[in-house]
Amino acid sequence: MKMSQDDLAGPPQREYSETDHDTWKRLIERQLKLIDSIAPAMYWEGFAQLNLDRNRLPVQNKMSAQLNELVGWQLSNAQDEYLKPVDWFIHLENKHFPVTDYIRQPQDFEFTPLPDLFHEYFGHLAWMTLPRYLEIVNRITRKYLASSEETRLVISNIWWFTIEFGLIREDGKVRPFGAGLLSSPGELQRALRETNTHVPFTLQGAAEAQAKPYAFHDQYFVLDGFEQLEAVTAGW
Ligand SMILES: [Fe+2]
Repeated sequence: MKMSQDDLAGPPQREYSETDHDTWKRLIERQLKLIDSIAPAMYWEGFAQLNLDRNRLPVQNKMSAQLNELVGWQLSNAQDEYLKPVDWFIHLENKHFPVTDYIRQPQDFEFTPLPDLFHEYFGHLAWMTLPRYLEIVNRITRKYLASSEETRLVISNIWWFTIEFGLIREDGKVRPFGAGLLSSPGELQRALRETNTHVPFTLQGAAEAQAKPYAFHDQYFVLDGFEQLEAVTAGW
């Protein structure tokens, strides 16, 4: 389904306080320390291309133009809540990645149930600069939009347990892959520490697992390399 630029653009970005900028700065400093030796190589490849300002909150239009130049994708405005899955995937089909303009409050530093700016820009956007990763996004989007209602629930779950909350094995180590883990200091540390929550990734396992948007998860699926995600979505 094609959408007009006006449909996708949404309201103008809100104004931020110095406290908001400070939250961003502290989140970046803290999280970079946490993931320094554990984030996968692909993440760092994307992160370098993003060139995030570590002191000031990102400006959506500017980052959107940068992403457009890099890979032909743009950012669109999501409300401060989860979009309905079908709306979410229609944005993706249009090569628009929906981002919120909300930044967590200082008391929610470790974990915010709502996706915020830190989640979008630090967790997701590094990946979204990588054509190899975007191919997976395109495959999942195509599969979702071409599926029946019942299968759509399964595809959403697979997205959730890979793109949002997946782990990945690289060089023999379990590393954060999902944007929800990369952007949540609290859940990331718990997910890596409690290895009894790790389950080898299978499509069926991820399809049947219980997504928990408002709490830490009981299990995390470990991809055996990015190649596994490529293999299981081949033909989608
Ligand atoms: Fe997300």
